[in-house]
Amino acid sequence: DPEYPSAAAFLPPKKTIPALRAAAKSCEGCPLHLHATQTVFGEGPAGARILFIGEQPGDQEDLRGRPFVGPAGRLLDEALEEAGIKRSETFMTNAVKHFKFEMRGKRRLHAKPRAREIEACRPWLDAEIAAVKPRLIVCLGATAAQAMMGRAFRITKERGKVFKPADGPWIMATVHPSSILRAPDDESRRQAKRDFIKDLKKAASALES
Ligand code: URA
Repeated sequence: DPEYPSAAAFLPPKKTIPALRAAAKSCEGCPLHLHATQTVFGEGPAGARILFIGEQPGDQEDLRGRPFVGPAGRLLDEALEEAGIKRSETFMTNAVKHFKFEMRGKRRLHAKPRAREIEACRPWLDAEIAAVKPRLIVCLGATAAQAMMGRAFRITKERGKVFKPADGPWIMATVHPSSILRAPDDESRRQAKRDFIKDLKKAASALES
């Protein structure tokens, strides 16, 4: 598809995280770069044992250039702390590196990335995983989970299960922290957060094993 040349042409020859981050700044692998403020690349130490994949940056991530620093990120930080996972020892990234939104008045509302946008951005995600070589990948939400495990993957059925392929990193999926923020009332929000923490604890104990 000529409209989606993919990010592949923008990858640098040397695929370290700093080199990838620098090259990703000028990615035009899909049209999402046209309206976003900046590329939001993954962040964390190169040797992180656990790598988290979200969907795409939100409004605040787009403005600040860092993943998970808005409301969903705050909830994620609280849940990580409760699960005994230090964020500074994780690598945090997204399936799509540019914010996709629709204007509603003066507000920029999150818009769901299309399959071809996720595919166009895939070379960055693959390169991050190859550079970090995590022991465990945690997919936050269906976009990340289906990108990694196929469109038939269902979080509702398989959340919290650690899959251990013979080659490559272990992988599990749980809900996206934004889904917890959208819970209809306080009690269901508290329950959703407890369930999320439970999944993160499974991730933590898989790393201990
Ligand atoms: N939601 C995501 O999926 N990723 C972010 O970085 C922020 C919000």
